[in-house]
Amino acid sequence: MKILVIGSTGTIGKEIYKSLQQHHEVYGAHRNSSSFPVDISNKESIESLFNKLPKLDAVINASGTASWKSLSDLKEEDYYIGIKSKLMGQVNLVHVAKNHLNDYGSITLTTGILAEHYEPNAVALSLVNGAIHSYVNTASKELDRGIRLNTVAPGAISSDFPKDKKFAGYFPVDIKDVVKIYEYSLTTNNTGQILKIY
Ligand SMILES: NC(=O)c1ccc[n+]([C@@H]2O[C@H](COP(=O)([O-])OP(=O)(O)OC[C@H]3O[C@@H](n4cnc5c(N)ncnc54)[C@H](OP(=O)(O)O)[C@@H]3O)[C@@H](O)[C@H]2O)c1
Repeated sequence: MKILVIGSTGTIGKEIYKSLQQHHEVYGAHRNSSSFPVDISNKESIESLFNKLPKLDAVINASGTASWKSLSDLKEEDYYIGIKSKLMGQVNLVHVAKNHLNDYGSITLTTGILAEHYEPNAVALSLVNGAIHSYVNTASKELDRGIRLNTVAPGAISSDFPKDKKFAGYFPVDIKDVVKIYEYSLTTNNTGQILKIY
C-alpha cells in the first residue's frame, strides 16, 4: 500500500511510520519536514502536499493541537487554536484526501480519551475530540468509492506519561498497542468507527 502519515516525527506518528515502513511505501509529513512539509491548519498546505504525492491507499493523521488551560483561563481565541488545528485541520484533510485516494482507500484521524473523560486544563481538547467523533460518525456515510473514515482515540501514551499515574481516569497505554489499532484501521472494512484504546 502507498500510505501517508502526517505527524510522522511525533510520539505516536513516528512509531506508526516505523512499523508501516516495513511492509508498505510510506510518506512521512509534518511542518518541519524537508521532503513533505505540511501544516494541517492551512488547507492550501494540505492540497500542495497531496499534489506532490502519487494516488494513495491510506492516510493517517497523528498531528494537531489545542490549548491546555483551565476553563476560567480559556479565552475565545484559545478555543480557536484547537478548532483551526486539530478540528478543521483534520476536517480539511478529509476533504482533500478523499480526492487523492484510490477506491476503497482509508482515512484515519486521531482524537483521544479526552473526548469523553475529564482531565484538568483539557476542556478545549475535549471539545475538539468530541466534535471529530461526531464528524467521523456521520461524514463516513457520505464518502463514495468505498473510501473509509475512522479515528483512533488513544489514552495517554506511556512514553510521554508516568506509567503508574492515571490520565483522565485511566492508566497510560503502550505505544505498540496503539500502533496496532492504527494498522487495524487500515485493514478492516469498517468505517465511521471510533477506535478507542484506553
Ligand atoms: N501523546 C499522547 O499521549 C496522546 C494521547 C492521545 C491523543 N494524542 C493526540 O495525538 C496527536 C499526536 O500527538 P503526539 O503526542 O504524537 O504529538 P507530538 O509528539 O507533539 O508530535 C506531533 C507531530 O505532528 C507534527 N505536527 C504538529 N503540528 C502540526 C501541524 N499543524 N501540521 C502538520 N504536522 C504537525 C509534528 O512535527 P512538526 O513540529 O515538524 O510539525 C510531529 O511530527 C495529537 O492530536 C494529540 O492530541 C496524543
